Amino acid sequence: MNNLFNIKDKCFALSGGTGTLGGSISTYLVENGAKIILLGRTKYKLDNKCAALNAIEQGCATSFEVDVLNEAEMLVVKDKIATDYGNLDGLINLAGGNVPGATLTDDQTIYDIELKDTKNVIDINLYGTIIPTIVLSELMANQGQGSIINISSMASKQAISRVLGYSVAKAGIDIFTKWMANEMASKFSDAIRVNAIAPGFFISNQNRRLLTDEDGSYTTRGEAIIKNTPMGRFGEAPELNGLVHYLLSNASSFVTGEIFDVDGGFSSFSGV
Ligand SMILES: NC(=O)c1ccc[n+]([C@@H]2O[C@H](COP(=O)([O-])OP(=O)(O)OC[C@H]3O[C@@H](n4cnc5c(N)ncnc54)[C@H](O)[C@@H]3O)[C@@H](O)[C@H]2O)c1
Repeated sequence: MNNLFNIKDKCFALSGGTGTLGGSISTYLVENGAKIILLGRTKYKLDNKCAALNAIEQGCATSFEVDVLNEAEMLVVKDKIATDYGNLDGLINLAGGNVPGATLTDDQTIYDIELKDTKNVIDINLYGTIIPTIVLSELMANQGQGSIINISSMASKQAISRVLGYSVAKAGIDIFTKWMANEMASKFSDAIRVNAIAPGFFISNQNRRLLTDEDGSYTTRGEAIIKNTPMGRFGEAPELNGLVHYLLSNASSFVTGEIFDVDGGFSSFSGV
């Protein structure tokens, strides 16, 4: 492979690495020779995913049972990574999600929203990226290189109905990405880059019931999304892999502070 895109033996940490998108990305990275550190809350899911990654030829994966919202736990992980690996070449923040109380149904208004649930959703989708980034990027600051990828959303750009907390958090991810990119490049090294990917709509465990009915047909919301996606379909998780690979490799050495849409044209379409 061209050296520009070489990620062999590079060490990348992923939160949400057992989820739909993170599961696909972690498999792809291991298949391309990277070492993976999974950060997640559920031991059996981590164990199963690690076993699958290590079963890939020359696969190398380990995991830490950690809540990315817990700074103290993340500090322990940082020290363990420094001891066990010596360096960290990249971090992908995929942990995120929604909860029913923070998701309005079609017949509800803003006054029906559960504020406590909304705050929890903002916490996981925003602080769930801010905390691991600030803790683990110190390893990159010390070693003078690294690439961080945050996960934004179509909901960060314009109002998408029902998901207030999620939208507020993902809009926060966009400015946090730019802010960290500036901080790392100007104060530490031009070889530490921070970017975000804004996926369009990919069927996953957390949105399946919002987008499809039990028989697999689209819900009204699913149909509206497809109608506003010029490619006329949902994304497939592996369709993020190319951009992830580019952002983690030297091919993107002058790229930082960017938010990349991977959305089948959703964000560029006026609806008319
Ligand atoms: N699927 C889509 O269409 C889509 C679109 C835009 C953005 N995203 C974002 O992509 C990311 C991955 O989503 P997905 O679709 O794979 O969903 P998913 O539910 O399959 O994966 C999310 C993962 O985050 C983990 N997680 C949640 N809270 C955590 C915590 N406190 N500590 C550690 N791990 C935690 C979950 O256990 C899960 O493994 C999320 O940030 C999501 O908001 C998804």
